[in-house]
Amino acid sequence: MTSPRIAVIAGDGVGQEVIPSAMRVLSEVADLDFVEFPWGSEFFLQTGSMMPSNGLETLAGFDAIYLGAVGWPTVPDHVSLWGLLLPIRKTFEQYVNLRPVTLLPGVRSPLRGREPADINMLFFRENTEGEYSGTGGRVHVGTDAELAVEVPVFTRAAIERVARVAFSHAKRRSGRLISVTKSNASRYNYVLWDETVAGVGADFPDVELQRVHVDAMAARMVSRPDSVDVVVGSNLFADILTDLGAAIQGGLGLAASANLNPERKHPSMFEPVHGSAPDIAGMRRANPIGAIMTGVLMLRHVELAPAAARVEHAVAQVTTRGEFLTADLGGSASTDQVTDAVIQALRAD
Ligand code: IPM
Ligand code: MN
Repeated sequence: MTSPRIAVIAGDGVGQEVIPSAMRVLSEVADLDFVEFPWGSEFFLQTGSMMPSNGLETLAGFDAIYLGAVGWPTVPDHVSLWGLLLPIRKTFEQYVNLRPVTLLPGVRSPLRGREPADINMLFFRENTEGEYSGTGGRVHVGTDAELAVEVPVFTRAAIERVARVAFSHAKRRSGRLISVTKSNASRYNYVLWDETVAGVGADFPDVELQRVHVDAMAARMVSRPDSVDVVVGSNLFADILTDLGAAIQGGLGLAASANLNPERKHPSMFEPVHGSAPDIAGMRRANPIGAIMTGVLMLRHVELAPAAARVEHAVAQVTTRGEFLTADLGGSASTDQVTDAVIQALRAD
């Protein structure tokens, strides 16, 4: 078997620290052919673009893309993101943004008394349209009459395809799916959302579908996290709720995500949920666990599930012991010490 080919874009800030660390971990358990690309904000300052004009073509030939973080104070965020991350998600039809929210053993949730058994959610975020469709414009720029419109786009086809993936996972897990909506106040977009999700549900008679308004969902994730299993939501709603999810699982430094093209026509992209963290960048204090757990999702995607399970187990051992944790988890270990601890756990396994 040939090794999976992985395009690595460590990107900005702590991406440069957590991705090489996670690559060390992944290399312990699998033979991966990593090819690194120096794209990001630094590249922008030198060349005027976030990636070369043939960047997407280059990436198209890979089995997966492993991305650290995009965004740096010297480049406006809408420029850096629309120059790299968002074109990759859209061009490669990565219409599912998969975001697990799991409390690792030994990690303390800010929700009092909650244990790993209480916090184990799986979010399916629509990743191509909604409020982040990119449709809009500004006119009369710089005058008192300046106007901006940004049009949310909801299509039956895009809602249907993400819902189908979410239902099929719900079927394999608890048999329950929550669809996040706001069809009380939003009369068009979220009514189409509800109708379409319910329509897909007809093909999954053994999955119980619950519609929950996004405001109520935020409260429920805090007060009854154990009642939440698989969730499907729009780009905006699931973006916000998965940051809440990251907080209740112990922090953004732990959260993993996968931008999936389920048909495998294009490469999928794997990225930790945290950003470039300019406040701690370069200090080797960033938590590598989010990037490592993102690597676990990537290993499963390239059909190396046993290797993925080994890494997951090693991370759980490190968090359980609690000897090597970064500052966000109340410890004082460096990025490298946590990484070494995970590698030690793998070798001892
Ligand atoms: C995320 C990020 C991005 C998003 C931003 C940086 C565009 O917040 O991956 O959740 O909203 O998709
Ligand atoms: Mn986000």
